[in-house]
Amino acid sequence: MNYRIAYSFGFHPWEDAAVDPPFVAKITELFEREEEGRQPPYGSVLDIGTGSAIWGVELAKRGWQVTGIDIVDKALRRGRERASTAGVDMKFVQGDVTKLEHADVGAGFRLVLDSGTFHDFDEARQWAMGRGITAVAAPDATLLLLAWPKRRRPLIRGASREEIERAFPEWEITHVEPSHFRLPKPMQWLLRPDEHWYRLRRP
Ligand SMILES: C[S@@+](CC[C@H](N)C(=O)[O-])C[C@H]1O[C@@H](n2cnc3c(N)ncnc32)[C@H](O)[C@@H]1O
Repeated sequence: MNYRIAYSFGFHPWEDAAVDPPFVAKITELFEREEEGRQPPYGSVLDIGTGSAIWGVELAKRGWQVTGIDIVDKALRRGRERASTAGVDMKFVQGDVTKLEHADVGAGFRLVLDSGTFHDFDEARQWAMGRGITAVAAPDATLLLLAWPKRRRPLIRGASREEIERAFPEWEITHVEPSHFRLPKPMQWLLRPDEHWYRLRRP
C-alpha cells in the first residue's frame, strides 16, 4: 500500500481498530502480559510504523517510554497532536523501518510493537527490518507483531509464519493469537484479513 497517498486522502481504516472493542480487549491483554508483576515505568518501547500513534499514546498513558517511527510526515503530525491532546510525552522519528540503522531511535528497547507494517513488505525488506529491530532491542525484549496471512488480495501482501521466522532468526515465537480485527463486511470479504498477533522473544 502507498501509505503517503492513503494518509493524504484520509484513508486509514486500520485506525478503526481503536474503537473496535474485541481488538482493543485483545491488544490490552497483550500489553498487560508484558507489564505483569511490574510497576510503571515499564521501560522503553519502539512503535514501528506508529502512524497517528494510537497505540504508542496508549502505551505512554500506561507508563511506557515510547518512541514512534514512521515514514509519512502527515501520520507523524497527527501522532504529535494525539500525544499532545493526551498530555503524554512520546518521541517521534521520521524514518524508514527497513533502515533503522540510519534512524535516530536509540537502542535497548524492552518492547517493540509493530501493528501492521512488516506484513506489507517483500522478504528483502522484512529481513532488513528484522536485522534493524534485533540491533536496537534489549536482549530480553518482546516483539509484538501483527500480520495478515499471506495470500493474493489487493492492498496488503500479508506475511507467513515462516517469513516471520526467517526475518527474526534469533527470536522465538512464543504465542500466535487472533487479533479480532474486523473490517466492514464488504472489505472483510474482499481482503480476508484474519490477522494474528505474533509474540516473539529471544531465548
Ligand atoms: C497499517 S498502518 C499502522 C499504523 C499504526 N501502527 C496503527 O496501528 O494505527 C502501517 C504504518 O506503517 C508505516 N510505514 C509503512 N512503511 C514504512 C517504512 N518503510 N518505514 C516506516 N514506516 C512505514 C505507514 O506510514 C503506516 O503509518
